[in-house]
Amino acid sequence: MAAPSFLNSAQFERPLKPRCKLSKPELQPSREFGKLELPAPELEPEAVPLATLTRVSQFLVHDLRHHLSTVYANAEFLGSRNLEPTDTDELLEEIRFAVGCMTDQLDSLLLCTRTGNTMEPRRESLKGILDRAVQMVRFHPQTRHVTIIPHDIPALEGRLDGTKLSSAIFNLLLNACQAAKASPNVKRVDIDLHQNSHCILVQVSDSGQGVPDSIRETLFQPFVKAEEARGMGLGLTIARCIAQEHGGDVYLEKSSPGKTVFALTLPASLFSVLSLSS
Ligand SMILES: Nc1ncnc2c1ncn2[C@@H]1O[C@H](COP(=O)(O)OP(=O)(O)O)[C@@H](O)[C@H]1O
Ligand SMILES: [Mg+2]
Repeated sequence: MAAPSFLNSAQFERPLKPRCKLSKPELQPSREFGKLELPAPELEPEAVPLATLTRVSQFLVHDLRHHLSTVYANAEFLGSRNLEPTDTDELLEEIRFAVGCMTDQLDSLLLCTRTGNTMEPRRESLKGILDRAVQMVRFHPQTRHVTIIPHDIPALEGRLDGTKLSSAIFNLLLNACQAAKASPNVKRVDIDLHQNSHCILVQVSDSGQGVPDSIRETLFQPFVKAEEARGMGLGLTIARCIAQEHGGDVYLEKSSPGKTVFALTLPASLFSVLSLSS
């Protein structure tokens, strides 16, 4: 059967063994997908602004398509012969993880329709959020052969929406991996975290060829993408919007052949009431 059209850009070549291992994703094996506890509606359905619902739905569609790429690619591999039992376990674990991510995102859309809130901040570990984003991107079929290196991420906790922030960082990492993968030389992505009294700075650097000049000025606007790119042109819009909802931002720090850096900032005040030290 032909792959669905949204998967045309997925690249299914897959080295099954030498995958970099992070800690296992936090999955509840008996996760009950039908049992979301919804708060009482705070708003009449018509009171949730249509513009908010449209934006949240577009963002959701963008991210779900990426998670579905992972599910589809792994299903293809599971259908192939000569898989070791450990390969099968790994592929199934990745599918469960992607389904968990999609379920979290669907839950947050549902909550938005009930309350009008696009964010649900709670006490979360920034390292946990980064690990989750790295995990999502490592499982994505377009990131094979790219080395992703998180550097000394301290154990910070803050009032954050983990589902949303993982999506923001996932989108920066996915772009970085796509750029690095297209590079004829080293295919590498680095994640660094810096902090001062004002803000936390997450830097995502890649060894790709850089952002095309033609879109540098409009990069963060919805549906802007490179001419030859197959995506929706929403990943950076999503990342910036989520960072801004946290009081931070996303910007292009540097871009030249061999080194592009996108930065996501978060205000230190989100962390200071909890623990700023590691
Ligand atoms: N790290 C990067 N290196 C080079 N180009 C990038 C990078 N990140 C984003 N871009 C460019 O920005 C465009 C828009 O990216 P994005 O908003 O994530 O769109 P999409 O949702 O299609 O992935 C991409 O098509 C790509 O040309
Ligand atoms: Mg993108």
